[in-house]
Amino acid sequence: MDENKGSLSAPAMSLLGEIGKMEQSALTELETISSEQELEQFRTRYLGRKGLLTAVLRRLGELPQEERPVVGQRANALRQKLEEEITHRDEALRREALARSLEREQLDVTLPGIPFRRGTLHPLTLALRQILDIFVGMGFSVFESREVETDEMNFVFLNVPPGHPARDMQATFYVNPEVVLRTQTSPGQIRGMRTYEGRLPVRFIVPGRVYRRDPADVSHHPVFHQIEGIAVDRDISFRNLVWVLEEFARKFFGPDTRIRLRPSYFPFTEPSAEMEVSCTICRGKGCSVCKYSGWLEVAGAGMVHPVVLRNGGYDPDEVTGFAFGMGLERLTMLKLGIDDIRLFYSCDTRFLRQFA
Ligand code: DAH
Repeated sequence: MDENKGSLSAPAMSLLGEIGKMEQSALTELETISSEQELEQFRTRYLGRKGLLTAVLRRLGELPQEERPVVGQRANALRQKLEEEITHRDEALRREALARSLEREQLDVTLPGIPFRRGTLHPLTLALRQILDIFVGMGFSVFESREVETDEMNFVFLNVPPGHPARDMQATFYVNPEVVLRTQTSPGQIRGMRTYEGRLPVRFIVPGRVYRRDPADVSHHPVFHQIEGIAVDRDISFRNLVWVLEEFARKFFGPDTRIRLRPSYFPFTEPSAEMEVSCTICRGKGCSVCKYSGWLEVAGAGMVHPVVLRNGGYDPDEVTGFAFGMGLERLTMLKLGIDDIRLFYSCDTRFLRQFA
């Protein structure tokens, strides 16, 4: 190319000069480019359809025919060089951007994770599951009854007519004069018997929430749980009741637990009894929990009253039955040594977690 130079025309020489200057300035400019966007603008300015280098190529036509290839080659060489430089610059910019984001978004996968605290089952849930297991093991099924109940089911069908003094024992939440929040699971006896429609034998328990208008203290809470049980068949005897209660007490509180029954009164059983277990805290020696008697009352029980059997659809001349009702909170407190019923409803996880 050099030996040709001397013979080139003045316009060709000046075009070559322009190309040379363009190369200089383009390469200097390229050094200062610091973003992909600027790089794209650079490419358009030099190599685009209306770019500086394209403009030079357009002027090739002004040159004599034989000089066009020489200048054209020079221009194309510059185009190729700029394309390569742009590619290099582009790669460098991408590398820098990656390095910056790696620096910024550093993640140490060996750091310990954020611990995820698992919840625990409520002590009442745990105790209830155990109680259900025990009774299911003795052939009882589980019957769920309703919490919003008619006054008739909660009282009348259980041999507690309006004005009966037994109503005073249970401070009742009335929804309206005919509808109550059940004060006991005993109405489940009637609903269960009616559901089983006279089949024999019938044995089921009714676990669930009950409501009483009592202020909360160490042993009272307006919402608590009962487990009701009933068995009906030909020739069911009081002795069968004693066996079931004894079996339950031994399985729930431990094999050396003793039980005793004391005469009592409930309108829906006759005869009625109160069941006591040997004190779970002092094992019968005498302590403040059993008030130094060695015994704890844990359930009401008895032989199902004929009126109740009839209201459940069974003939009291044909069948007999026993029933019992106990408080889940009280049973759980005595088993776990908890001295305040309100702790169950305190939502204090330091307390609740201990029993998992
Ligand atoms: N329903 C009674 C109460 O809430 C407990 C009870 C006593 C249930 C004797 C029974 C029973 O089934 O036979 O105090």
